[in-house]
Amino acid sequence: MEVKTLGVVGAGQMGAGIAQVAAASGLKVIMNDIAKEFVDKGFAVIENNLSRMVKKEKISDEEKNNIISRIKGSLDISDMKEADFVVEAAIENEELKLKLFTDLDRICAPDVILSSNTSSISITKIAGATKRPQKVIGMHFMNPVPVMKLVEIVRGLATSDETNKITHDLALKFNKTPVEANDFPGFIVNRILMPMINEAIYSLFEGVGTAKAVDDSITLGLNHPMGPLALADLIGLDTCLSIMEVLNEGLGDSKYRPCPLLKKYVDAGWLGRKTNKGFYDYSS
Ligand code: CAA
Repeated sequence: MEVKTLGVVGAGQMGAGIAQVAAASGLKVIMNDIAKEFVDKGFAVIENNLSRMVKKEKISDEEKNNIISRIKGSLDISDMKEADFVVEAAIENEELKLKLFTDLDRICAPDVILSSNTSSISITKIAGATKRPQKVIGMHFMNPVPVMKLVEIVRGLATSDETNKITHDLALKFNKTPVEANDFPGFIVNRILMPMINEAIYSLFEGVGTAKAVDDSITLGLNHPMGPLALADLIGLDTCLSIMEVLNEGLGDSKYRPCPLLKKYVDAGWLGRKTNKGFYDYSS
């Protein structure tokens, strides 16, 4: 089966990034979201990323325009009927994702694979909302999508070998490196990353060091490209909290309890870069 048209549900930072790499690999893309302003914002992100690549002479102006012309905006989920592979990249909310997958199952042709970019929700559970669990799989991209090489491919209990192979090949087509993970809370990346970020927040909360001291320790001492608090701001603190809650509930070990300071920041609406305020201030 050859994938020619990719449906992307969600035009946020992940959805737009996925649409961009798919269109750059030659696929037609339908980028769907619930409101025009979100789709417009997705196109603005893609335009900005591609313009940066033109400036650096990595692609020509013509290539940039060709990539953008392969992406069609959509405000109606029924448009997914034209897709032959779907990546869902909506917000990280279980109820919403289950509903979306029930809708996609009804709308899409029976042979279409329905994948989710979820960072922590069980693929087996998402698959259970459809009548095609063998065709449901996790395709977990990393942020920023155009830069990060990894795609975590997550098999649910019923995911077939064929679905796994097609998804694996699609990740290669996007010039990414697929790594297979089984369906456990947080899969591989977030099982390891989020406890580190949570511990960094505890270090700040308990006064072990300032935000800068915590981040400098990790960038300068461990050679990570950015510190865990800056990375949490990039990912979004609401996403970090929701992943910690999934780890805490799913693995039942108190070492996964979310730091109270993380909860407080989310309650305050300090969600990181997307709200211009998190552990750092991005307003200027
Ligand atoms: N979109 C597209 N391209 C971007 C970008 C963005 N948002 N941000 C940076 N880039 C590109 C730049 O254009 C530049 O490209 P070239 O090398 O071709 O010139 C390259 O990335 C490096 O950028 P900069 O020089 O501006 O900045 P940097 O060297 O500090 O790198 C970074 C920025 C790539 C974000 C780097 O700091 C990094 O790798 N950080 C870690 C990111 C990470 O860990 N991501 C995973 C998060 S976990 C996740 O996503 C899973 C989950 O479920 C939560």
